[in-house]
Amino acid sequence: MTTPDFIIVAIDGGAASGKSSTAGVLSERFNLLHVDTGSFYRALTAEMLRRGVSPADPTAVGTAVAALQLGTRVTGRRAEMEIAGRVAGDEIRSKAVNDHVSLFAAIPGLRQALLAYQRGQTVVARRHGFRGLVMEGRDIGSVIFPDADFRFFLYADPAERARRRVAQGQLDTIHERDRIDSSRKASPLTCPPGATAIDSTHLTRDEVVARMAAPIAARLAAP
Ligand code: DC
Repeated sequence: MTTPDFIIVAIDGGAASGKSSTAGVLSERFNLLHVDTGSFYRALTAEMLRRGVSPADPTAVGTAVAALQLGTRVTGRRAEMEIAGRVAGDEIRSKAVNDHVSLFAAIPGLRQALLAYQRGQTVVARRHGFRGLVMEGRDIGSVIFPDADFRFFLYADPAERARRRVAQGQLDTIHERDRIDSSRKASPLTCPPGATAIDSTHLTRDEVVARMAAPIAARLAAP
């Protein structure tokens, strides 16, 4: 087997299933660009709320999003979305965004506008000299990169996930978001066939990382 020159790691899962923390460690360990696509949906949601565009009007949302000038800023190992040259700050974790993001994310026009942008993160990663990228979200292994080198699906007991959010100091409607994310027509949250499913309920972050890192390290070590 030849060693790939650029690797793509896809991590999907519900809210607070451990995607961001594990992706962060993998990005450090293997020199990967960390792409948190939830932060993209959140940045667009914050922008729509600021403009007074309602998720009840999908046509208006699609038109408004398609007209946005999107860019990417790399801060450390993380990709951040720029809208007209500006990166949204803490507002993307606000209660208003938590309450609305799944409604906007269910709109096909918005997802379509993000498709090429998300795939284009490989170009950003290469330009910045990364060995590959680790992208986390809901549809990465199913829609964005179905041919990714590694695809993981994280899940955890709902009570444990709620506890994690509280520990992070966030007011989040994770069950309601998961319900909308899993039942929507456009790219619903699902464990794609062939992905490695990991139940993180009783595992520490490092134990989850170890399960993901083992096959990646083996591949990179292959002659
Ligand atoms: O990962 P997160 O909780 O920050 O994501 C926020 C919302 O964005 C989530 O409730 C659904 C949406 N999302 C999505 O639909 N598809 C993705 N690939 C990532 C996030």
